[in-house]
Amino acid sequence: MEQVSVSPSSQALVFIRELEREIMACEAVRHPFLARFASEPLTIEQIRAFGLQHYQLVKVFTTYMTNVLPKIPDRDAATLFRHVFDDEFGAVSGRDASVGQATIFRSHVHLYRDFLSALGVREEEWGRVRLLPETETYIRSHLALTRDSDFRVGLGAVGPGHEFSIPTMFQSLIAGLRRNTTLTDEQMCYFTLHVVEDVEHAEVFNALIARHADTDQGRELIRDGAMRSLKWRTVFWDGLTRAVFGGRPVSAPQG
Ligand SMILES: [Fe+2]
Ligand SMILES: [Fe+2]
Repeated sequence: MEQVSVSPSSQALVFIRELEREIMACEAVRHPFLARFASEPLTIEQIRAFGLQHYQLVKVFTTYMTNVLPKIPDRDAATLFRHVFDDEFGAVSGRDASVGQATIFRSHVHLYRDFLSALGVREEEWGRVRLLPETETYIRSHLALTRDSDFRVGLGAVGPGHEFSIPTMFQSLIAGLRRNTTLTDEQMCYFTLHVVEDVEHAEVFNALIARHADTDQGRELIRDGAMRSLKWRTVFWDGLTRAVFGGRPVSAPQG
């Protein structure tokens, strides 16, 4: 193939777009669990089973960011992350004081609890959920990925691995919730809000990633983090397939 000489920044941009294409086609984003959740009739018990396992991931997400942040050499990393933290901790669309003050009642964990309450899950049940082995593996692996690995692996895992892929995956979850529940838009806003906010959050991570994607090693580490995260996401959906639909995980069509 003809070699085209590109500046580091456009090379980084090409890398990011290629990685995003790879993610859109990967098994986690195209997982059969998502298609089934969107299209099959679901009982409230099935939706609760999904909701309580997914809650375990929601609770721990900001820890991944706090694990990665101190390792990032860029001086403005904390400033860039601030936007994402503001949203996570409940700033009302968080950018302008006139829009509203941060309140824990708008934090993403709190919004998720509102969703569980609307499903009729009682507060005491949240704390004593038995985690599926796949849920445990997912969390343990991400804590290790973000804590023990190179910061570029962490950026890949949280940025493209989470923020970029979530809007697509959540579309299926929203479709299933709309088809099978009478929840209001407000009661399921944890999900609809991420379809919008995570597009912006992915851009925050991409701003950092672009600076570290001008070497082979940098690109390798970022991609590795993203794809490892998505591999664990596949495992998580496999676990949910069993917990929600009973049978064995259905593997994604090949090719
Ligand atoms: Fe969030
Ligand atoms: Fe996000």
